[in-house]
Amino acid sequence: KHPLIAVVGSLNMDLVVKTDTIPEEGETVSGEELHYLAGGKGANQAVASARLGGQTTMIGAVGADVFGERLLRSLNESGVDASQVRVMDDSATGTASIWLSNGDNRIIVIPGANGKVLPEMLEEADTVKSLTAAAAVLLQLEIPLPAVTRAATLAAEGSALVVLNPAPAMPGLPQELLRCVDVVTPNRSELAVLTGRDQLRPEDLDAAVAELAASLGVAVVTTLGPEGAVYAAAPGSRVQAGRAGAYRAPGYAVSAVDTTGAGDCFNGALAVALARGETLDAAVSFAMGAAALSVTKLGAQSGMPSADEVEAFLAQQASSD
Ligand code: RIB
Ligand code: NA
Repeated sequence: KHPLIAVVGSLNMDLVVKTDTIPEEGETVSGEELHYLAGGKGANQAVASARLGGQTTMIGAVGADVFGERLLRSLNESGVDASQVRVMDDSATGTASIWLSNGDNRIIVIPGANGKVLPEMLEEADTVKSLTAAAAVLLQLEIPLPAVTRAATLAAEGSALVVLNPAPAMPGLPQELLRCVDVVTPNRSELAVLTGRDQLRPEDLDAAVAELAASLGVAVVTTLGPEGAVYAAAPGSRVQAGRAGAYRAPGYAVSAVDTTGAGDCFNGALAVALARGETLDAAVSFAMGAAALSVTKLGAQSGMPSADEVEAFLAQQASSD
């Protein structure tokens, strides 16, 4: 089954600098490598979804420049329908400057065309159709909030499962948006922001996930990298877990080459699995496997695995238990 998935969000050219040393203020260091790689949370999630079997449409914007062309090509090569990505004459393609050091990253995003995505753009006939016909719609917070909110309200007019990846973290999300959402996928720091905490102690994680799920009436999934995921579904939410309270799913220890886009891989995988009708438990474990594989390769989009690779990886993990 190839469920229809629509992704509304950002496309960035990732300028990835590999360096052993992060410079201090005023310091110059010599790094190892510079790569130009396709990224952006929206586009990353779209590529993950398409490689994992979703029939995927990307909605967003790039500039009329070389980076924009590269990003459209990357989508096409992974089988994402990019016909609804606007090419804007008056802005540059978004970029993310990424310092990659020992498998970890620091990122500065310049939104460019992503910052010009307006709610009206989503009201074009073909986009309304993509959003209302989709089995799942994936949203993040790298385009302006009014556009994210409009996408969610349009999706809610259809029967799509609306998955909100609240990244980068933003306090005070509007009720109009939250009302339309079925699944929320904050990472640990985004969960802290959404539950109004300065910090989230490890022992408070389960409670925070359950609390957010209950307050929004949705399913909440928080990934912890190799430590797995914590998830909970509110009674009456569209996506249900097997029982009440917070669950833990195991993570996978892999040797990390590049964690950029691992969360996006998780979201794309989760949406495809849920859209296929899998249970939340099955969808979370599939997505954990996909995300683990993605960190073993350089680049966000270039590291997204196929469904076969994920199945093989999960089978191998199960047999080595
Ligand atoms: O989530 C990872 C993405 O965030 C990168 O690809 C980069 O573009 C930033 O937007
Ligand atoms: Na990767």
